[in-house]
Amino acid sequence: MNNLTPSAGLPAGLRHSSPRTPCENSRPAENNQNCRPVPTLPEVGITVRGLAENNSALGAPLPAPGGAGILQVECLSKTYMLGRAAIPVLRDVSLAVPAGEVISIIGASGSGKSTLLHLLGALDQPSGGTVRFQGRDLYALSAAQRTVVRARHIGFVFQFYHLMPELDVLENVLLPALSGNGGVLAGARARAQSLLAAVGLAGRAKHLPMELSGGEQQRAALARALMNQPDLVLADEPTGNLDSVTGGQVLDFLFALTRGQRRTLVLVTHNIAVARLCDRVLELKDGRLQGA
Ligand SMILES: Nc1ncnc2c1ncn2[C@@H]1O[C@H](COP(=O)(O)OP(=O)(O)OP(=O)(O)O)[C@@H](O)[C@H]1O
Ligand SMILES: [Mg+2]
Repeated sequence: MNNLTPSAGLPAGLRHSSPRTPCENSRPAENNQNCRPVPTLPEVGITVRGLAENNSALGAPLPAPGGAGILQVECLSKTYMLGRAAIPVLRDVSLAVPAGEVISIIGASGSGKSTLLHLLGALDQPSGGTVRFQGRDLYALSAAQRTVVRARHIGFVFQFYHLMPELDVLENVLLPALSGNGGVLAGARARAQSLLAAVGLAGRAKHLPMELSGGEQQRAALARALMNQPDLVLADEPTGNLDSVTGGQVLDFLFALTRGQRRTLVLVTHNIAVARLCDRVLELKDGRLQGA
């Protein structure tokens, strides 16, 4: 196994030699063995909504949720390995988010915003530190348990929509509500239709994604993210590919369907004006979250 300390493998001049922070001191050595690359297309939790949280397929019942706030991140780090070269992206990110808060994360391209969002959404493995979601240590759970938590409680909106091209809009929105045997859960179809109506796509349910504009595809992706009534919505530059008018519409829907429903929202954006629409603005810089 490679040594995944942040500066391992870098030329001497690029190694960071700053004193160890409290996070570095508290980090268990074995946590640094966990580094894996982000999958090209992060998996979206489907087919598990029908699983109860104490289902035997999980190996062990999920620990009960608890604790204050919806997200507590402590000393989170992520270093990618490219061959023998280490690419430290996140160092010592700590963050607490109370339920119902709407926060934005800004930062330069490559600063690690998507990496952080994937880690918050149980879509990747950190190199160190912890992410507690509703009091559960996400990366201490088994992969199956984490999938259930993600599918039941977290909605992810991707910058490039990630709709399934061969499914129509309604089917895409229904994806998170597929049960283990391939059917959809009771009431899911009506909920999908009402979500499509809420994002202004009632008349497009039978269209394929390629027949929709970018803004319409993102609204469909937003409906899909909300299908399972998630407690936490993570949105990765959801308006990054849209013109300002269309982006404004998508944001209006996003805020209405999250803030209006007392959901917690973490919104990654390049746009400071958009960021300021949130309760709190945090900036990722040099692998650390500032303003947290
Ligand atoms: N799977 C990977 N393997 C190696 N390096 C990666 C991987 N994924 C991301 N990186 C690197 O990690 C850094 C942070 O990437 P990330 O996508 O999180 O940035 P970002 O802030 O979301 O950027 P953008 O604003 O352009 O979307 C970049 O330098 C990127 O090249
Ligand atoms: Mg990104």
